[in-house]
Formats: sequence, C-alpha cells, structure tokens
Amino acid sequence: MLNRPRRNRKHPAIRQMIEETVLRPSNLIYPLFVTNSDVEKEAIDSLPDLYRWNYNGLCREIEESINLGLRTFVLFPVIPDEFKDKTATYSYAESNFYLDIIHKLKTEFPGIVLMSDVAMDPYSSDGHDGFVQNGKILNDKTLPILGKMAVAQAQAGIDIIGPSDMMDGRVAFIREQLDINEMDEVSIMSYTAKYASAYYGPFRDALDSAPKAGDKKTYQMNPANKKEALREAELDEMEGADFLMVKPALCYLDVIHSLKEYSSLPIAAYNVSGEYAMLKAACQNGWLDYNTAMPEMLLSMRRAGADSILTYFAKDYARLHKDLK
Ligand code: PBG
Repeated sequence: MLNRPRRNRKHPAIRQMIEETVLRPSNLIYPLFVTNSDVEKEAIDSLPDLYRWNYNGLCREIEESINLGLRTFVLFPVIPDEFKDKTATYSYAESNFYLDIIHKLKTEFPGIVLMSDVAMDPYSSDGHDGFVQNGKILNDKTLPILGKMAVAQAQAGIDIIGPSDMMDGRVAFIREQLDINEMDEVSIMSYTAKYASAYYGPFRDALDSAPKAGDKKTYQMNPANKKEALREAELDEMEGADFLMVKPALCYLDVIHSLKEYSSLPIAAYNVSGEYAMLKAACQNGWLDYNTAMPEMLLSMRRAGADSILTYFAKDYARLHKDLK
C-alpha cells in the first residue's frame, strides 16, 4: 500500500504539526445579558450555567473572562416591561441603564472591545425588530429608530455596532448617521445572513423579547436559501459593513463557507442560544462529553470559514485552551 493516511495520525506531535484549523480564545466574542436589577446574577432556565448580570456581576464576569484570554463582548439588555413602547424610545433615552453600563465598562476595562445589538425587539412592546403598524413591520419607518439607537450606543462607547434587525438599507443608514456624528471609527458588524430560526428560543426567554404576534419571517431569511445570503452580503459590502455575520452557525455552515469564499471582509458566525442549549442539555444528561463535543462544534464553524465566533461557550472554551491565547 503506497498511501496510508494513518501514518500522519500516529503521533500527537505529528497530528498537531499538520493541524489545518486553529481556534484561539481571541477569535471568540462572548455574549452577556445585562440587567438593572439589584441582584448580581439571575439564572436562565433554558440556558444552563448562563446568567443575567447586573453591573457588579458583569464586572466580575468580564474580569474572569479577560484572565482567560477573552477580549470582546457583546451585550444584550434585559429591558423591564414598563420601559417598552411601540417605537423603542428607551433604546436611545438618556436614562437608559444599558448605555450607562457601556460607558462604565469602557472606563473600568479600557482594554476590552464592546459590541452592541441594534434592533427594536428588546425595547418594543410588540417584540419585533422593526416598527409595527397594522400587523406589518415597516422597513423605512424603522431605519431612523435604528439610527438613533446606534448613535446613542456609539456615544456611550460601543466599538462595534451589530445591526441584527434585517431591515433593508440599515447598514448604509447607520453608517451615515455615525459619520455625520463624527464617529467614523465605530465599526459595523452586520447580521448579514440572519435566518428565521427556531434556535433563538432560549435567547428570547432570557430577554423576554419574543414577538407578541406573528413571526419574523418577513424580515429574517428563509432557512431554505443560500443564494439570498450572497445577495445580502453584496448589499452589506456596498453599504459599508466591516464584518459580515451568519446566524445561526451550526445549521448554516455551508452559508459561512460561501460567504468566506465570496467576500474579502472578515466573517463572523453566531453560535446561537439554541445551539448552546441543545449541547448543554445532552452533556448534562451524560449523553455527550462537554469538553470534547463543545470544541468540536466551535471548530466546525472555524473550519467552515468563520474568522470569529460569537458563542456562549466562550469562557469554557478559553478555559480549556488558555495556551492558544
Ligand atoms: C435580536 C436578536 C436575537 C438574537 C440576537 N439578537 C433574537 C431574534 O432575532 O429573535 C438571537 C441570539 C441567540 O439566539 O443567541 N434581534
């Protein structure tokens, strides 16, 4: 036999020498849920081992994460019902606790990078990412609200704006608003190919942000489509996005691969809440081994072409792979 691929697998040093894909903790973005509560941390039923943090809890969690080699965080606010309305005014209100927390974190931890989410859903009494009128999500009436939200977040100190709303033209609109307000250094990571997915369920539990009526299928993408992701990518590139994102990740590895081939922009993958929950549940039942199944899942996203991964596993992965930095 001339060809024996197993010879290249015979020794751990050889296996490592020819390893094609490396995932470092610095490639990861750690999503955190933020509250204005007096309680430091609150458990989330459908996301075992994850918490909603108040400012003090958040500081502790970020400090621990930094010590494990993580540097980039995406923050999602849990907005009390009394602050929600039809036009998400609280999202850019001066009294917004989330904006205050962003400012304080950037002062407390000057070395970190903070990313935000731009969409109306956490602030909207309708629970939709856009403005709702007569049961319809109105694209062009949503854009000015997203613009104000993005500018307020950038003013508070956010480094990367993450529009997750899937309205048409929002990247260009937000870019323009940021530039007019002299914030040309603030980046945009567009949720380019965001699918209407069942895997966001636990996230909506965490924020209590599920739509009050209908679903998100008129703005989020049909899971059956891949070409359409390229169309969204072309538009986001033209509109000035700095990074393109695919979301969810695990069921859409082919889309990550396509976007990586197509674009010269860095590609991010969002390993979403449902993907976390299903793996955690299997591991808690003893059906899968966490410390091997979890890195294998993340590696698949990196191998498919993701430069960075937003993942709730970030801390656990970093703990296992501190040596990679
Ligand atoms: C809000 C938003 C969602 C997620 C990130 N930003 C939920 C949604 O679109 O309904 C999901 C993240 C996750 O499931 O981990 N626009």
